[in-house]
Amino acid sequence: MEGQRVLLLVLVVVLASVQRSGGVRCFAQFDLSLGQCDEELGEVDEEDCCQNPQYGYQTTDGVCQSCGPPVWSPWSPWSQCNVPCGEGVMQRNRKCFGIGGSECERPKEKVEMIPCNGTCCQRPCPVAGLWSSWSSWAQCSSSCIAEGRAPIRNRRRTCSNPAPSTDPPGLGCRGDDSEDQNCDNLPHCAVNGSWGSWSPFSSCPVTCGVGLQESFRRCDSPAPKHGGWPCPGEGRRTKICSTNTHCPVDGVWSEWSRWGPCRSPFPGRDIRCRQTAGGSQSRERLCLHRVHNGSICSGDSLTESRVCYDVNGCYMKGTWGEWNSWSLCFPPCGVKSKRVRKRRCDVDYSGYEPTIGRRKEVASFSGTPNDDCGPLPDGEESEQQQNCVNAPACP
Ligand SMILES: *[C@@H]1O[C@H](CO)[C@@H](O)[C@H](O)[C@H]1NC(C)=O
Ligand SMILES: *[C@@H]1O[C@H](CO)[C@@H](O)[C@H](O)[C@H]1NC(C)=O
Ligand SMILES: *[C@@H]1O[C@H](CO)[C@@H](O)[C@H](O)[C@H]1NC(C)=O
Repeated sequence: MEGQRVLLLVLVVVLASVQRSGGVRCFAQFDLSLGQCDEELGEVDEEDCCQNPQYGYQTTDGVCQSCGPPVWSPWSPWSQCNVPCGEGVMQRNRKCFGIGGSECERPKEKVEMIPCNGTCCQRPCPVAGLWSSWSSWAQCSSSCIAEGRAPIRNRRRTCSNPAPSTDPPGLGCRGDDSEDQNCDNLPHCAVNGSWGSWSPFSSCPVTCGVGLQESFRRCDSPAPKHGGWPCPGEGRRTKICSTNTHCPVDGVWSEWSRWGPCRSPFPGRDIRCRQTAGGSQSRERLCLHRVHNGSICSGDSLTESRVCYDVNGCYMKGTWGEWNSWSLCFPPCGVKSKRVRKRRCDVDYSGYEPTIGRRKEVASFSGTPNDDCGPLPDGEESEQQQNCVNAPACP
């Protein structure tokens, strides 16, 4: 406590010398017994500072003044007897602190004096010790201000100016021989970011198969500050999770089967090559691969039917048409690979009604007729062959 007060006094002296003009240095506390200002707030007008009577202020003369009404400080301790031997006096004093320097009550009674008898009548007399001046400040304990805790610096003094006599023993010095001060004007230490803890993993986001669970962490323990590094690494991590449940596999339609034989609706009746008797034929498909409660194929037709004439193997006249498109190369490798195409023989179906039945469904012709287009004019071939050149060798 004593040390702090001395420190403040020193600060006051030091800072007063750098004070700017206009306004006063305002303090949140005024210590009446020491006449010291404490807890500096900053620089404002005297009137503004003294809106609170507990406050104190300091002008360029370095003297601390109270914002309160004028009151006497407590009396100082009595001084030592002013003569070493025989009758003398001792004094004590007090100071008036208050706004505007106006007078305290009984303003003349600043000093009191009483007689005393000096007790040192045989030489040598005891010599009271006195403080040396303070050493200069040592280095701050750190070069930057760490979170919430300012570094400190220290200075010392010794009771050696003069040292108290030992024979006869003199009074020692009163007060601290060491003093600490916060180093408030240093830069803040850089604080590297550090990760907070991981959040729990999210629940598995899928209801079948496998998915990814996530967990996050924040760079807030602490967050990087004053130019410190960000947290290294990732703020997100994942983990694979399995539901141990197969996902539904929806059905897919198979290809349609080939059309079945064209048959009369009347059992046993032969309609082959008959222009006046139609029949019907059908084909099927299947809904395949549906497992694990997958949905069935959409569109419910498993079978399809159409009306038809059975022309399989029937002798039919036709006329030559265009070439059919080329076949694929066969075999699909090797020097012997070839492709072929045939001239189309367009069979004359004009003897058949294009539709069948009362519903006038368009009829199809089922089977391969035994077509006859006759010979081609000028001895042309009805079939062509081509080599497929540069085919890769067969394995
Ligand atoms: C000082 O000493 C003298 C003589 O011994 C005595 O008469 C006187 O009362 C003393 N004064 C004080 C203040 O003690
Ligand atoms: C901050 O991190 C950097 C780079 O990893 C390192 O060099 C430095 O010493 C760290 N500082 C503190 C205060 O931990
Ligand atoms: C199959 O799916 C249907 C509807 O999608 C549902 O109502 C039924 O509970 C499921 N069955 C099983 C065994 O998961």
